[in-house]
Amino acid sequence: MPSLDPALVPVLPRTAGVTSDGHLTIGGCDAVDLAKEFGTPLYVFDEDELRSTCREYREAFASRYAESAVAYAGKAYLGRWLAALIAEERLGLDVVSGGELAVARSVGFPMERVHFHGNNKSAQELREAVEAGIGRVVVDNFHELSLLDDIAGALGRSQPVLLRLSPNVDPHTHKKTTTGVLDTKFGIPIDGGQAEEAVVEAKAKANLDLLGFHCHLGSPIFELEPFREANEVMISFARAMRNRHGVELREYSPGGGFAVQYLRDRPAPTTDQYAQAVVDSLRQVLEREGLPEPMLIVEPGRSIVARAGVALYTVGSRKEAPGVRTYVSVDGGMADNIRPAMYESKYEALLANRATEAPAERVTIAGKYCESGDVLVRDVELPKLWAGDVLALPTAGAYCLAMASNYNLSPRPAVVLVREGGARLVRRRETYEDLMRADVWEE
Ligand code: LLP
Repeated sequence: MPSLDPALVPVLPRTAGVTSDGHLTIGGCDAVDLAKEFGTPLYVFDEDELRSTCREYREAFASRYAESAVAYAGKAYLGRWLAALIAEERLGLDVVSGGELAVARSVGFPMERVHFHGNNKSAQELREAVEAGIGRVVVDNFHELSLLDDIAGALGRSQPVLLRLSPNVDPHTHKKTTTGVLDTKFGIPIDGGQAEEAVVEAKAKANLDLLGFHCHLGSPIFELEPFREANEVMISFARAMRNRHGVELREYSPGGGFAVQYLRDRPAPTTDQYAQAVVDSLRQVLEREGLPEPMLIVEPGRSIVARAGVALYTVGSRKEAPGVRTYVSVDGGMADNIRPAMYESKYEALLANRATEAPAERVTIAGKYCESGDVLVRDVELPKLWAGDVLALPTAGAYCLAMASNYNLSPRPAVVLVREGGARLVRRRETYEDLMRADVWEE
């Protein structure tokens, strides 16, 4: 029986395998058949992988810290099917827009488990959230404090809030995804006293109930130390706020940002290792500062969905740039996965229809969009590729579809959910009509 390159196992869903004729399988489904049936580009999500990851997360934190909650950060990817699955797995949900909130509401997601983030939430979004009975609003700035207080007051509600603070801790990740340092648009800086002012102001707001503090350092964070540092800064601050203003820390969130393994030679810490680092350092500093244990909320996005998703593309044209490199183009690219162009993100690739064949050449996998920067994977060793081959891009579950666009007016891909050999279309491929649906011009 042929088998997959063991080095690729950690980047594929745990159900991945190969058929006797060398086709990649995911959730018991032949990837080549999926490509044929649903067309490409196609995003395949493995239901068992997703559910196991959700359970592992809950267990990793709950077993170490009873009063804890895991809220999936929907910005990594959200569809109605996924919101429903997240609710079923008893996770919370972190939303960052009226759109994400609407998706959550459409599947009856329990609103008390929803948190609303964002550095410039509109009055309408805040109204929708408060009206819906959202569990927490994570207030990012002074403008929002006043706006939300007015809105909650007008609706006759007392809105539970956390304050998003910026602890000035560098998580050593890409500069475009670093958020907890001083020079960022997110959160109220602790350094310089603004966070303290915000605490005083929040406490004085008649319609807000200040439950605690939140920070988010960046993403993906491959190190454990930044989480420890953040706990240190945040809990010391909380203690100062208790002493000076009588504010009790009832809830605390160090955000998300947990990394995943994208490449064969770059493993990430396990969920257990992250949980251990967060919980141990939190307990230590709470004890030192003499504070009781608050409710702990973590917000993983990427690490819940990345590994469960595999993108399938069909190989088309080929160009040998003499003496430089060989470009092989596929039928998707930066419109469905902007990450390589935007963050120099790297991925593995494998040939779904000859998944066990040894590499024969080094190629660069390009997308089909009109930009030189539209390259999915640079310099990857693969078997010789021919037009019609099906190429699989693993760990494509996070921040690909979520950031997908209609660039070059291309319809966005279909999404299928696979489990035990069955495939269910959960989002159909967009059509040209979809592309023109909101265009109201008339001849
Ligand atoms: N909580 C907050 C407040 C966040 O801003 C984020 C991500 C998360 C949680 C979830 O982080 P995660 O666990 O997914 O790392 N588009 C970029 C990532 C942007 C992350 C934005 N905020 C990428 O493709 O790498």
